[in-house]
Amino acid sequence: MQTLVSAQELTKVYNRGVEEVRALDGVTFDLQKGDFVAITGASGAGKTTLLHLLGCMDIPTSGELLMNGQSTRGLSDSALTRMRREQVGFVFQHFGLLPTLTVMENMTLPALFSKRDAKESAKELLEKVGMTHRRNHRPNQLSGGEMQRVAIARALINCPQILLADEPTGNLDSVNGEAILQLFHQLNRDGLTIIVVTHNPTLANATQRQLVLRDGRLVP
Ligand SMILES: Nc1ncnc2c1ncn2[C@@H]1O[C@H](COP(=O)(O)OP(=O)(O)OP(=O)(O)O)[C@@H](O)[C@H]1O
Ligand SMILES: [Mg+2]
Repeated sequence: MQTLVSAQELTKVYNRGVEEVRALDGVTFDLQKGDFVAITGASGAGKTTLLHLLGCMDIPTSGELLMNGQSTRGLSDSALTRMRREQVGFVFQHFGLLPTLTVMENMTLPALFSKRDAKESAKELLEKVGMTHRRNHRPNQLSGGEMQRVAIARALINCPQILLADEPTGNLDSVNGEAILQLFHQLNRDGLTIIVVTHNPTLANATQRQLVLRDGRLVP
């Protein structure tokens, strides 16, 4: 087993004027390569905050995040950006596709800053998520489930080791939610490590492991 992510006493305090919000409070866990994990908990429990820290989109107030055994503490903004771009793919509840671009253009956008042959990878990934026939459409011509499949494919364009998804089925009906779950299973079988924040019990129960947050702490 290879430890991909090690969260050690992660704490995040937001300052809202004079008020301090302790969104995460000493969260410790390891993720192995190939894990498929759900993060659950009530609204405000700290799920999105944790996902942002895991994806190097924000830095902890204290504690430490190790990626592939390497500490991310003290990394410069540009080093964090590189780590985010190369190691992590993100999927959001609202899909995050740019409305004026076609599916294919949305796919290749995140690869503008890398040297990969984005068009070839984009074609392969669209094939993988079953969206090849929609490659020249714009997001408003797609269903929610189709948009989310494109968003997942796009998140994989830079070959990340980890896919982070925040409520990926939150805007989908149960049939489309099930299709996204099957896609996650397929990607996970192919070796992708997946961390999904969800209120959807079907999705949470289908993962290998659930991390439950309550008031910024992991429920033992
Ligand atoms: N940028 C911010 N500034 C101040 N407080 C914040 C900020 N982001 C989140 N919080 C607070 O931190 C706590 C955790 O928020 P977070 O978004 O991580 O919760 P969540 O578990 O994702 O909730 P939800 O299920 O509603 O998405 C909440 O009390 C929230 O109000
Ligand atoms: Mg959230």
